Amino acid sequence: MIVTIDGPAGAGKSSVARALAGRLGFRFLDTGAMYRAVALAAMERRVAWSASDELAALSRQISLQFDGDRLLLDGRDVSDEIRDPSVAGVIHHVADHVGVREHLVELQRREAERGDLVTEGRDQGTVVFPAAECKVFLTATPEERARRRVAQDLAGGRIVQFDEVLQQIRERDRRDETRPVGRLVPAADAVHVLTDGLTQEQVVDRLQQLVSERQLAWRANSA
Ligand code: C5P
Repeated sequence: MIVTIDGPAGAGKSSVARALAGRLGFRFLDTGAMYRAVALAAMERRVAWSASDELAALSRQISLQFDGDRLLLDGRDVSDEIRDPSVAGVIHHVADHVGVREHLVELQRREAERGDLVTEGRDQGTVVFPAAECKVFLTATPEERARRRVAQDLAGGRIVQFDEVLQQIRERDRRDETRPVGRLVPAADAVHVLTDGLTQEQVVDRLQQLVSERQLAWRANSA
């Protein structure tokens, strides 16, 4: 069974998807990490963002492998580096690139061939797995997402301005919603879950219940 979780940045998709996969005993795929790793590789190899063919070729040359929660780029653990703000600042060059997307979509589909999967991103229920049995569109208002970010940063000892964070979130939403390929848009058959005011536990409970209902319907259909 494939469970897709799409939604905007900062809606808590990664933590929720990871926790859900753990409860269900499914594998978990963080597709944003794949785009981040390609961006990191391009920065390290100094590929110019305007060199479209080189970028596409690079995405095919590198090896991306998940090892539990860690992502290995050519065998090197880059899980922390890809979260650096310098990567977030340039990632649109990679995420907007048709050739890079084509290749990453292919890799994502290959992951699903290995069995039950919870996959998380922007285009999982629309482009990558249009026939997925269970699709979720996870959102929170920009203000709620900014509040969570500020609280997270504070807990980590970093002081950030709410207005600045809100502005960044709105800018990422705009980019995600208007890119020519792999645009952030809910699948017609996705269940929308608004997480404002809910704890992570409550969100995972809700999704687990949804998956159980789909599993029952799926089994009944294939019996
Ligand atoms: O989810 P995360 O913030 O790690 O994603 C990093 C970037 O990759 C985002 O800015 C998003 O635009 C892009 N992305 C994408 N398609 C996906 C997953 C992420 O374009 N399936």
